[in-house]
Amino acid sequence: MKKTELTNYQGNEILKKRKSIRAFNDTIPSMDDITSLFEAARWAPSSSNNQPWRYIYATKSDEIKFQKILDCLMEGNQSWASKAPLLIISLAQKLTNTGKEYRHHLYDTGAANMALALQATSLAMQAHTIGGFYIEKVLNTFQIDDALVPVVIMAVGYPGDINTLPEPLRVKENVRERFELDRLILK
Ligand SMILES: Cc1cc2nc3c(=O)[nH]c(=O)nc-3n(C[C@H](O)[C@H](O)[C@H](O)COP(=O)(O)O)c2cc1C
Repeated sequence: MKKTELTNYQGNEILKKRKSIRAFNDTIPSMDDITSLFEAARWAPSSSNNQPWRYIYATKSDEIKFQKILDCLMEGNQSWASKAPLLIISLAQKLTNTGKEYRHHLYDTGAANMALALQATSLAMQAHTIGGFYIEKVLNTFQIDDALVPVVIMAVGYPGDINTLPEPLRVKENVRERFELDRLILK
């Protein structure tokens, strides 16, 4: 499989800078900056403008709620995500706003999460998406009703010293590669 490095990418700077980091520093984002992340998500496109994305978040200053979100992560992800100053649970509403089956809820929520991640990057933060978490734990801990499905958890914050990471994770921080374009564009 031929893969290319990000260094070959000539496009938009913000896309180039976005990265799933695992080393965070201690700085807690300001309330204005946190609000701007959710504002970015708010303006994402969605089918029939259903806007199915919902969020639960905690910064490190709310120790109890932060720990509750952290506990929902699988252990391997907890090890590094515990250093992030902000954790966000992303959820999606399964039905349309008029109660019909809504098959685009995950697509729309992914788009909103990408908007949030790019806004984080534009503020010199990063938002690392995490799929390795316990769905049931989110449902039970936060008493989520049937209308919502937990999608991912995001670890958000400013980049820290990668030398604080254990060796296997440190190596991952420096590798970013993608399939060649001709693998993505089908004939
Ligand atoms: C849906 C989804 C689930 C992911 N789950 C995890 C995870 O459980 N743990 C982790 O360390 N990274 C996770 N990632 C991050 C990916 O590993 C990362 O996006 C990918 O390696 C590309 O790197 P980049 O985001 O820096 O470009 C996930 C990303 C996505 C989009």
